[in-house]
Amino acid sequence: LHWQQVSLQTLNLDSRPDDEQCAELNNTTWQEYRQQRARLQVQYLLLSRRNPDCAQRFSQESLEQQASHFNGSLPTKVIIHGYRALGSKPSWVKELAQALLRAQDANVVVVDWVYGASFAYNLVVENYKEVAVQISVLINEMQKHGGRLEQFHFIGVSLGAHVAGFVGTLFEGKIGRITALDPAGPMFKGADTFDRLDPSDAQFVDAIHTDSDYFGISIPVGHVDFFLNGGKDQIGCARSRFPSMYGYVICDHMRALHVYMSALNGSCTLLGVPCASYEDFLQGRCVDCEDFKGSCPTIGLSQNSGIHTALLPSEKKLFLLTTSSPPFCAHHILLELEVSPLEKSAELEVTLRTENLGTERRLRLQTDRAVYRAVLPHPAPLCEISSIWMKNTGARFYRQAEIHVKSVCVSEFPSPEKPVCVNNVRLRRGAPWSHDLVQVCSVF
Ligand SMILES: *[C@@H]1O[C@H](CO)[C@@H](O)[C@H](O)[C@H]1NC(C)=O
Ligand SMILES: *[C@@H]1O[C@H](CO)[C@@H](O)[C@H](O)[C@H]1NC(C)=O
Ligand SMILES: *[C@@H]1O[C@H](CO)[C@@H](O)[C@H](O)[C@H]1NC(C)=O
Ligand SMILES: *[C@@H]1O[C@H](CO)[C@@H](O)[C@H](O)[C@H]1NC(C)=O
Repeated sequence: LHWQQVSLQTLNLDSRPDDEQCAELNNTTWQEYRQQRARLQVQYLLLSRRNPDCAQRFSQESLEQQASHFNGSLPTKVIIHGYRALGSKPSWVKELAQALLRAQDANVVVVDWVYGASFAYNLVVENYKEVAVQISVLINEMQKHGGRLEQFHFIGVSLGAHVAGFVGTLFEGKIGRITALDPAGPMFKGADTFDRLDPSDAQFVDAIHTDSDYFGISIPVGHVDFFLNGGKDQIGCARSRFPSMYGYVICDHMRALHVYMSALNGSCTLLGVPCASYEDFLQGRCVDCEDFKGSCPTIGLSQNSGIHTALLPSEKKLFLLTTSSPPFCAHHILLELEVSPLEKSAELEVTLRTENLGTERRLRLQTDRAVYRAVLPHPAPLCEISSIWMKNTGARFYRQAEIHVKSVCVSEFPSPEKPVCVNNVRLRRGAPWSHDLVQVCSVF
């Protein structure tokens, strides 16, 4: 205790930022929490291109004393974490802050409300508006030091998205942007728009949904809402027999954050296609972005998610498929199949191959249908698909013995390239068929 007092005094005497230790998010324990439940203890950290590795503690005082790296003429990113079931600090904050700083010269302010966000979820939900009010006080102060509301961009994870939404409400929608990373669902889905994030909270609101059947919200809350792989269950968040419960439970939920960080890194483009439902999307009924004059909205920092139309959409559902690991981008391949009339139903397995990568889809063929469409996420572009494999896998006697495929075509969307087709294939039950495609990728 004695040593701590001395070192604190030293810090107070010498307040040059360079001499401060790097600031950290706080954490809390159940015991601590029970002892002093009434206090929220919101604190702020600041990172910038001048201190990307070593966060500064940030407050009204440090602004007034101009003792921080805050630069009012730069845009400001505000990161807000969500619910902390176990009182631990979120581990991804620095990675997100640094990805933002690599992409844009900005002030990155991290809101640390771990204390108020921990343990009983219902009490945490009671806290979130008070946290938003405290943040708004700091924003008022930043405005006095050159910050402009339209230059603020909030990035809220889970419950943090609704905190950001309420800050937006307090500023009557004048904040520049709110990005919601799997905005929280429990206790918010049925809530009034005053109580949850909605498009009126900022000039532009984009949301990424990855766990909308569990921790996330199932309804659109932004101008655009990206539903990844349908927004519920993510590839690679597999049901294991011996899952680490916590990691398993939040894998889908945290995917939105990891995909967003990957998009900030900019190694590939993640674009969403507007469609009424995921089922329609998977069945190839939505293969263009004519709603947006042909340019599909993208995940990341582009202004208005890359939308150039005069009128912004509202609560627009966008769908995309991803792969299971960074950088997550998949190519959307439309598979179109036409068969001769069948006497019995059939099952068909189709695999697209690029070197050792394969994307498989099973189709159920009916006697009353001849044309089938399906959208597949392939890790490589159309021109790198080297072969198509098909197999008639129907069970003996009950299924069609031979399927006559009039044509099987693959095309990529959105892309102007022509489909690649193979015609007139006979698939005997159980006998695999494959066809090598000779293609050349054009170099731009
Ligand atoms: C973290 O929280 C504890 C208990 O609430 C408080 O005493 C301490 O000063 C905080 N530490 C930091 C680094 O903010
Ligand atoms: C977080 O908690 C651990 C263990 O309870 C403690 O050792 C650590 O110092 C804490 N970190 C902060 C920043 O409070
Ligand atoms: C603040 O940012 C502006 C715009 O990038 C830059 O011109 C200026 O030098 C910065 N000020 C300081 C003190 O770094
Ligand atoms: C982003 O890039 C950085 C630096 O190259 C790397 O360390 C990080 O793992 C990348 N993150 C993602 C999610 O791709």
